[in-house]
Amino acid sequence: MPFSDYKTALVTGASGGIGAAVVERLCAEGLQVHALARSAASLAALAERTGCTAHALDVTDLAGITKLTREVPFDVLVNNAGVDRPRKFLEAEADDIELLVDVNLRAVLHLCRLVVPGMVARDRGHVVNISSIAGAYNFNGNSTYHATKAAVSMLSRQLRVDAFGKRVRVTEICPGRVATDIFAHVHGDSPEVRAKFIDGFELPQAKDIADAIAFAIAAPVAVNIGHMEITPTLQVPGGLQTARPGA
Ligand SMILES: NC(=O)c1ccc[n+]([C@@H]2O[C@H](COP(=O)([O-])OP(=O)(O)OC[C@H]3O[C@@H](n4cnc5c(N)ncnc54)[C@H](OP(=O)(O)O)[C@@H]3O)[C@@H](O)[C@H]2O)c1
Repeated sequence: MPFSDYKTALVTGASGGIGAAVVERLCAEGLQVHALARSAASLAALAERTGCTAHALDVTDLAGITKLTREVPFDVLVNNAGVDRPRKFLEAEADDIELLVDVNLRAVLHLCRLVVPGMVARDRGHVVNISSIAGAYNFNGNSTYHATKAAVSMLSRQLRVDAFGKRVRVTEICPGRVATDIFAHVHGDSPEVRAKFIDGFELPQAKDIADAIAFAIAAPVAVNIGHMEITPTLQVPGGLQTARPGA
């Protein structure tokens, strides 16, 4: 099993949601998992529960992630940290654009820059990038989020080209709605927000995404699972609008 070929993993956005579930799963598979997020208390609890190594760090802290990736040769990199600031693009705020580009894209680019060359040199590694169906389809989201996730999607494909000839695997996980606190983080935690996004829906859980990632990692090393789109069964993207002039 390739899991046994890998010893170390770095998971960003690990203090909750999908990231914490991935940490749990990779720890259970015997990897030495480094969990990165800003919330020190949540990470400490995760470390207590799973045995992971906690790094209370902002993923946009370039000096911090550079130091960490120089200290540990990571075999698995899970770029999961992500944020959203929904707003019509015509009303977009400069700070929101900066934040989304910094967290959702710039940090992913830097972590790949810092980690993938070592994987190539060792002829061993697996990059898992969490994008979103927002990177593949247009719907009522927010254009900066869609743009950053589309960029992560293309980066995932391009990494395969740049690592060609080496046993460095790249998997893009493209989720639709998953039952996490992301909606509370984005819209504020309230019964209304939970009713709008979570309550009464049949949704994949964070563990389901972690299981999919584990499946991709556990595939024989000759097998690269490049892209997995995972949506609720009762969710489809798409739609078409046609407006009359002046409407
Ligand atoms: N849930 C969904 O429906 C869904 C759908 C499509 C795609 N996704 C993507 O899946 C990924 C995980 O989402 P989730 O649902 O698990 O979200 P979540 O519950 O809001 O968790 C987001 C994680 O990212 C971390 N994070 C945010 N900003 C950070 C920063 N500057 N530095 C380090 N860590 C940071 C948060 O930790 P701290 O606040 O402690 O830093 C948290 O651990 C994201 O990339 C998201 O875009 C989610």
